[in-house]
Amino acid sequence: MTQDSLKRAAALAALDELVDGAIVGVGSGSTVGFFIEALGERRERVAGAVSSSERSSDLLRAAGIEVLDLNRVVAAGTPIPVYVDGADEIDGSLRMIKGGGGALTREKIVASACERFVCIVDHSKLVARLGGFPLPVEVIPMARELVAARLRRLGGEPVERAGFVTDNGNLVLDVGGLVIDDPVKLEFEINQWPGVVTVGLFASRPANVVLIAAPDGIERRPAIGR
Ligand code: A5P
Repeated sequence: MTQDSLKRAAALAALDELVDGAIVGVGSGSTVGFFIEALGERRERVAGAVSSSERSSDLLRAAGIEVLDLNRVVAAGTPIPVYVDGADEIDGSLRMIKGGGGALTREKIVASACERFVCIVDHSKLVARLGGFPLPVEVIPMARELVAARLRRLGGEPVERAGFVTDNGNLVLDVGGLVIDDPVKLEFEINQWPGVVTVGLFASRPANVVLIAAPDGIERRPAIGR
């Protein structure tokens, strides 16, 4: 099986996690692309979607799914029971590194507005310890060197993502070489530096369930105690 066919299998399994008639939160990336494709064939199941990137919004509209404004949905007090998104890495506690596609800020915002985070991955994303994948950090452009210097002091090797601007008009530093012993602590630490918009650690609020596609089938792994 190719990695894409595994991603598609995880995406299809996420359809069983939806709440019929509700709004769904939609992440970004290629696995989510397969989810949107499948959702488009069953678009009557959802009342619309709140999207985490311009790319996903385009795909949703092309699939005939209405893209709703998060502010309006929240102001109306309408619940968003489920958020579906991929990950670059996920560990045994369902903590994640995300942002390989650069949509980490809007992903964190939309995820925080939803009741349950359903993560969809192929088995290559499952790791014993986060940090093999360079950690994306979205940064206000004028703070690039300041933030990069602080990341180096933590032992990281930040590299500016070439030719890339986020949907919010910022840049992304991809940070290799970090030893992530305590993902929650590191998330809080980097998050509070001036100039940092979002760090791609999704650890303080991990996924509620991960659907892992492997050649022998889908494993549904709920977070322990959540
Ligand atoms: C997008 O910014 C990311 O957080 C994606 O969720 C992550 O990069 C996974 O992407 P793929 O589904 O393309 O592997």
